Amino acid sequence: MRSPIPDYLAEALSHVVSNTSGAPAGYIPELATADPRCLAAVFATVDGEVYGAGDVDAPFTIQSISKPFVYALALADRGFDAVLDKVGVEPSGEAFNEISLEDGTGRPLNPMINAGAITAHSLTGAEGIDPAGRMARVVGGLSAFAGRRLETDESVWASEMEHAHRNLAIGHMLRSHDILTDDPHTVVEGYIRQCSLLVSARDLAVMAATLANGGVNPCSGERVVLAPVVRQVLSVMSTCGMYDAAGDWATQVGIPAKSGVAGGLIGALPGQIGIATFSPRLDPHGNSVRGVSLFERFSSDMGLHLM
Ligand code: DON
Repeated sequence: MRSPIPDYLAEALSHVVSNTSGAPAGYIPELATADPRCLAAVFATVDGEVYGAGDVDAPFTIQSISKPFVYALALADRGFDAVLDKVGVEPSGEAFNEISLEDGTGRPLNPMINAGAITAHSLTGAEGIDPAGRMARVVGGLSAFAGRRLETDESVWASEMEHAHRNLAIGHMLRSHDILTDDPHTVVEGYIRQCSLLVSARDLAVMAATLANGGVNPCSGERVVLAPVVRQVLSVMSTCGMYDAAGDWATQVGIPAKSGVAGGLIGALPGQIGIATFSPRLDPHGNSVRGVSLFERFSSDMGLHLM
């Protein structure tokens, strides 16, 4: 990590540190114990340079930030037609855990909400793969995006499973429409395991930079997915990545993004950089308060808004 960008990032962090509004997610008990003071920002360029400030290596669970990457794996493994058949690409304008299924077909509106992400999880790996093989594909794929082997936080996984009634209900709804064809409990278990992978802000910036770099990890040099897959993923991130705050985000920040309830937030600027922030205090949409504020600042300081 080199200067002067870290100085800029440290200064940006110092501006948001006094904002103590919002709170760590409470509906997953293990997440409620997160240290609300944690704060980090990292830039990873498509040339493989990584710059950061704050708690750049503090571990936290990836949560919903896994969704665009698992969607990418599903598109790569099953092809666009098979995935679009089961998951749409329309913003729901609703909370991440709403049911949001298309009338008639039961197809989830998009892969960034839980219903669509549970479905995308079920579409990773070759058709007919068993749950262990599917999980290995998901962990291996996300690890390739990060450029290092990612591990599960078993206590966050167990804590979310104990309270997963809503995701299980969504899983059963999807099964009733034949959108899921496997046992819904097993698929939801796998989806929650995917959300429980431990990452740092540094990992997330490299993952976002892999999207910005057309599917090639700029640090490891590995091609993880093909460019058309990345285009599809970034398009859906720009319209659906911030849930019912997607419009505010599009106007004020203007870059494809995804948030997670553990406090992570990523943005990817095609051909330029991946950005990640970490701060566990969340707003009512489930997005990191300080993360949103940092991204607003980065976008305006550096003219990152794509429109
Ligand atoms: O399924 C859930 O509710 C969590 N595992 C993930 C939700 C999430 O991160 C929403 N994003 N802000």
